[in-house]
Amino acid sequence: MGEKLAVVVGARPQFIKLAPLVEILADKIELIIIHTGQHYDFEMSDIFFEQLALPQVNYHLGIGSAGHATQVGKMLVELEGVFKKNMPSSVAVIGDTNSTLAGAVAAAKSGIPIAHIEAGLRSKNKRLPEQINRIVTDRLSSVLCCPDQSSVQNLNVEGITEGVHLTGDILYDLIAKIDPDAVYIDSLLDKLGLTEGEFIFMTLHRAENVDRPEFLKAMVGDMESISAKIFLPLHPRTEKNLKKFDLFDKLTHASNVILSKPVGIVESLALVKSSLGVITDSGGIQREAAFFGKKSYILRDETEWLELERYGAAVCIGSAIKETKFDWSAHTVPAQYFRKASQKIAESILNINITF
Ligand code: UD1
Repeated sequence: MGEKLAVVVGARPQFIKLAPLVEILADKIELIIIHTGQHYDFEMSDIFFEQLALPQVNYHLGIGSAGHATQVGKMLVELEGVFKKNMPSSVAVIGDTNSTLAGAVAAAKSGIPIAHIEAGLRSKNKRLPEQINRIVTDRLSSVLCCPDQSSVQNLNVEGITEGVHLTGDILYDLIAKIDPDAVYIDSLLDKLGLTEGEFIFMTLHRAENVDRPEFLKAMVGDMESISAKIFLPLHPRTEKNLKKFDLFDKLTHASNVILSKPVGIVESLALVKSSLGVITDSGGIQREAAFFGKKSYILRDETEWLELERYGAAVCIGSAIKETKFDWSAHTVPAQYFRKASQKIAESILNINITF
């Protein structure tokens, strides 16, 4: 002991990945868990702490929603204070959100080595907030835990070779651990009016999609062209924008669409597993789908998860729902792609001072 690892989280996907990380590290190093407060609704935050039996956070910064610079700026100020007070020996950040960026910049400015989980992912679009967050975070990190071979290669191309570890994707450790059948899938499906294997699980939340009225209009207009039922849990950003662009009422009247609040991770896994397949713009959901042998049609022109695309588990369709001939037959992702990652991530993090 003696060493302290601060883990900065703040957005829905980070709470999910925190679970396997805590499980593997809690008895090896003192953990200081810091929640920035980027996500704050029950369905966006507390539900994951409940369902995954996560420990109480040590600090909740309560930052909330704001413009990017304001949000990141407020996080930096608060994080600097927490780091000064606790003097962690290293800081771990996960993914590519504003909380990831703030955690990395605050740690770098405080002279603390950083481990980045989900390092090396890249988009071709430099303007995406996630892309900005990834590039800066990777540049500043001493330990870069890459989920797959293409993320190692991306870092290589940028000249980042030191501290790079091919660890695998920590999300699969979580998925493998959870028993989605624990949600009594039959009664859940009954409650939602769904039949096993006959509905599509759909999500859309990315700013570059749902902040554009023409994208949302195309979605709402085209969803009824799909013959299967569509289960669509709505991210608050999406719901707010549907209302802002006067599209929400039309969507509630679409005969094959079942709308819902955001669902917890256990329900999400259970529903993906029971679905025909997935239509999404989320990185997490396409990996959940691949794990259960389901195909994802991605509402983007590209995916950062290149291996999944290569194996035919993810197919990018932009916004072309009407023009796509959906084929829900199985894909061929080899089982070893879903290998456990947290052991390797833990080893890399615990050796961070050697790399710094
Ligand atoms: C963020 C990440 C995105 C990630 C997503 C996962 C950034 C830049 N983006 O996007 O990469 O895929 O989280 O969900 O960090 N809101 C609520 N309640 C909440 C949280 C948000 O109502 O608990 C609403 C607010 O109106 C807010 C909007 O959603 O302005 C967007 O939230 P924000 O955290 O800024 O970005 P996300 O779209 O969630």
